[in-house]
Amino acid sequence: MPVQSLAAYHDTNMTRSLLHLTASPPHQQLAVTVPPDGVALTGTIQVPGDKSISHRSLMLGAIAQGETRIQGLLLGEDPRSTAKCFRAMGVEISNLADEWVTVRGVGLGNLQEPADVLDAGNSGTTLRLMLGLLASHPDRVFTVTGDSSLRSRPMGRVIQPLTQMGATIWGRQGHTLAPLAVQGRSLKPTHYHSPIASAQVKSCVLLAGLLTEGPTTVTEPSLSRDHSERMLQAFGADLTLDQATRTVTVNGPTTLTGQTVIVPGDISSAAFWLVGAAITPGSELVIENVGVNPTRTGILEALQAMNADITLENQRLVTGEPIADLRVRYGPLTGATFSGDLIPRMIDEIPVLAVAALFAQGPTIIKDAAELRVKESDRLAVMATELNRMGANVTELPDGLEIAGGLSNLMGDQVDSFTDHRVGMSLAIAALRAQGTTTIQRAEAAAISYPTFLDTLKQVCGY
Ligand code: S3P
Repeated sequence: MPVQSLAAYHDTNMTRSLLHLTASPPHQQLAVTVPPDGVALTGTIQVPGDKSISHRSLMLGAIAQGETRIQGLLLGEDPRSTAKCFRAMGVEISNLADEWVTVRGVGLGNLQEPADVLDAGNSGTTLRLMLGLLASHPDRVFTVTGDSSLRSRPMGRVIQPLTQMGATIWGRQGHTLAPLAVQGRSLKPTHYHSPIASAQVKSCVLLAGLLTEGPTTVTEPSLSRDHSERMLQAFGADLTLDQATRTVTVNGPTTLTGQTVIVPGDISSAAFWLVGAAITPGSELVIENVGVNPTRTGILEALQAMNADITLENQRLVTGEPIADLRVRYGPLTGATFSGDLIPRMIDEIPVLAVAALFAQGPTIIKDAAELRVKESDRLAVMATELNRMGANVTELPDGLEIAGGLSNLMGDQVDSFTDHRVGMSLAIAALRAQGTTTIQRAEAAAISYPTFLDTLKQVCGY
């Protein structure tokens, strides 16, 4: 296997610590070797732009009147998929690597019928949110697909409410799996009571409601992330919110006007460093400019409930989203039980929370998290098998995980991301407390949401 790049090499006190990236295209493997005296995470870092806000800024920019300017857009594979799909529908979007990305909005209802299949890649957010827009564009036909992971993820959850609004969508296996074909048409308003707390479902229906005459309403069983609601309001949509009943209504048709969006750092990416520092003795990290929208801060509450030493500093509001710098120090953790409304507020962070729980005193139980089975991989199954391969004692529950805790270290082994970005990065964090070398197969998955993960890993480890 040829060495593509030696990411870092370091020789201290006769011990070698090594982060070693090798590639056998299209896959990469990351080998993490920690010296016997361990590694501490220190310094001040920033994390890339929030993935959810990045998708939404591109999409709302695309359908607004006038120009939208975006600073801090996540340059990951997922937002690239969103940009590619909307460019194929006639939207001009500048180079995503520009400091300020500009989107020249075509105006509501003006997405063009694309000449080819729209490919959402690995991104559930791209496919599900976009579907609401496509289904409500009369007289146009769209075909949409994704990679093998996305083609196995449930689409019935968005097709069902759209069908209730009169949409016509065909798909495999009883119209539940992509590839999908959409006959756009004028839809009728609905009140959708979602059986799951899903921002993707909620946002899909709200986006369909933008072009629909009358009030389109979604009620969810517990609150999922509300970035769509915040950004729709900022773009001038006619939106009403009833927080007590977790109900949101868009009164369509409603015109959006291009805005300036400053994307905060992604708390889901910050979570890797929060856990990394919380479990490695001697660590102290400051993660600057992190989005702390209350619908996303479940991970802070969960780690604090486990006695993690995390403080929020310099709290402020930037373009409608709360931001803070997060300071985290190593300290002993205690196991805890997590369930209910907290779960949707930390849904993407549960894989790395499971890593923290391994080193806590006493067991940790995570319940009501069956949604993890239909993410980019079955995250309950994959995290349990891969962590157990490293010597952990994690039991899969039908809707969660039971983590024995009390470990002083893991044992390095060969593990696999299963092409799931958050699994791959969670395992890299687990490797920081493993003896010997941990080799993570298909480590390139990190680029979906965190293309600079390895650089920051080197930085905080002082390599
Ligand atoms: C997202 C919502 C969540 C999350 C995903 C991004 C979004 O999915 O897991 O990574 O941007 O709306 P669900 O809404 O399906 O839970």
